[in-house]
Amino acid sequence: MTLATARLKAEGVIRAHAQMGYTAVALAPRDLAGGLDFLRKQGKKGLPWISLNLVTDQGRSPFPPMILTKSGDLRIAILGLTGPIRMTNVRQNGYRIIPWQQALPPALAEADRAADMVILLSSYPFRINQQIAQNLEGIAIILQAGNSEANMTPRLVGNTLICQAASRGKYLGILDIDWSGGERWVMKNSARRALLQERLSRIGLQMERIRKGTPDRAMKKNSSYRHLLATQADIEKELRALASEDGQQQGSTYSNRFIALETSLPEDRQVAAIVRQTLRRANDLSRKELEKRRNERKEAGKTRRRLTMLAGAGTCSGCHQRQAAFWRRTRHASAWQTLVIRNRQFDRTCQSCHATLPAEALAQAGMQTMPPAIPVELRGVGCESCHGPGRRHADNPAGNRLRLPDESTCTTCHQAEHDAAFSYADRLALVRCPKTTRPGK
Ligand code: HEC
Ligand code: HEC
Ligand code: HEC
Ligand code: HEC
Repeated sequence: MTLATARLKAEGVIRAHAQMGYTAVALAPRDLAGGLDFLRKQGKKGLPWISLNLVTDQGRSPFPPMILTKSGDLRIAILGLTGPIRMTNVRQNGYRIIPWQQALPPALAEADRAADMVILLSSYPFRINQQIAQNLEGIAIILQAGNSEANMTPRLVGNTLICQAASRGKYLGILDIDWSGGERWVMKNSARRALLQERLSRIGLQMERIRKGTPDRAMKKNSSYRHLLATQADIEKELRALASEDGQQQGSTYSNRFIALETSLPEDRQVAAIVRQTLRRANDLSRKELEKRRNERKEAGKTRRRLTMLAGAGTCSGCHQRQAAFWRRTRHASAWQTLVIRNRQFDRTCQSCHATLPAEALAQAGMQTMPPAIPVELRGVGCESCHGPGRRHADNPAGNRLRLPDESTCTTCHQAEHDAAFSYADRLALVRCPKTTRPGK
């Protein structure tokens, strides 16, 4: 992706987020990839950026350190802490990030004066947020950002709850709280009970497994079994205690849950429109950049590098009509069209799996990733995506046999990210070519 396309997409992301009505957004290092000025200009269009520790070389803070808001009568201060910048692709021109030890205490003192409750948005990793919670008092909740594959159950450190949902917006994390001043956080009884019950059933299964493989007389001596029995008794005791103190929980209580944002959920019409418009613009821009590059190469007298190992489906079809007729009816044949109707055919992140680009052909052509333009005959998941580069076979079939695909061929594209439910055994029949009735046909 070029910087111009990246900026275009970033603008779309910002517009979509603004549409969703965020109260505060803490600036994270990645947000600075397009430079500070780019971001400042965007800020005016509606995203409430905050950062207490980003300062310009002139010593100014381009974003407010916090945002004050209210929930009922409760005054809430939301502070934004920007994590350390280690990425090489971040243009660190004209500003720097002050370490939390220096910037956070004074900002926290101010927030404490202005509000009843302080929430810190932080793009530091857990290890650092833990140190923050241990060293500074008065932060009720730290909402942590960063690249995390999994949701994190809230962790209590000191009297600060540290929370994080999985990255890339795959889950919505919901934290329900009953806040009573600075009192100690305790998990809501209902949530605690559910957690304990879940552990009980896990222990039950483990005990069952041991019982199956162990003769009765050896059971008493089995130390893992005895350990599980003791744990089970502890949990049951805790559950009884919970039942008796129901309705009279002391302190500030919380419970949490995560909602998976499945693609089957209905779209927000306005956000979806922003996404579509952004992708169309990005696609147009990529196309123009491609044409420009092509013209420049032409003017410089350079010839195009070619994927000489590949023949394209049209050539194969000449001799394998039966397989070709079958293939044309599969979605593999129309995989490029899938991108075209969504205005994504110039998006390099999509091309690798929706075109015929086996790794060995790219390597042989000296292309580390993608050719600048995908030739027509290689658009879609073609024969050579599964059978490997076939130019030499097409020229001399008997002397150059092609491979037949196995599961690993499919999973280079059918990765969990794009096809979570993929099963080779179940899906192969849908795309496997028919047998040749007469050799060579
Ligand atoms: C000029 C005709 C011709 C062209 C073009 C051609 N093939 Fe073949 N293909 C053959 C013949 C003949 C055989 C049988 C060869 C043999 O059994 O030794 C064959 C066999 C195959 C096999 C079976 C291999 C095996 O080991 O069982 C596959 C797969 C195959 N071709 C795929 C392709 C693909 C993909 C293309 C395009 C890149 C292609 N062919 C182009 C004639 C052709
Ligand atoms: C080069 C990447 C790639 C490879 C290799 C690949 N696929 Fe696919 N497959 C796709 C894409 C992309 C789609 C979706 C096409 C679309 O609808 O745009 C798809 C769709 C499918 C479908 C739906 C087909 C239909 O007509 O309903 C099945 C089934 C499937 N693939 C199975 C396989 C199997 C089995 C293999 C291995 C033998 C395999 N694929 C190899 C990329 C690939
Ligand atoms: C790593 C390989 C891979 C990449 C990269 C990839 N796809 Fe796919 N895509 C697939 C596979 C595999 C399927 C088939 C999934 C299935 O059958 O459920 C698919 C299916 C699709 C479908 C569903 C087709 C339909 O009609 O149901 C769309 C839309 C799609 N891809 C768009 C994209 C876009 C846009 C990009 C770029 C952002 C992209 N893909 C990048 C592998 C990939
Ligand atoms: C999604 C992967 C995939 C694609 C795309 C694909 N094939 Fe196949 N092809 C297979 C599989 C799987 C088999 C069966 C292999 C086996 O029997 O183990 C096969 C078998 C074949 C055979 C051997 C048939 C026989 O008599 O045994 C030929 C020839 C062939 N394919 C040609 C083609 C041609 C030509 C195309 C494109 C028009 C194509 N294939 C596209 C997966 C694919």
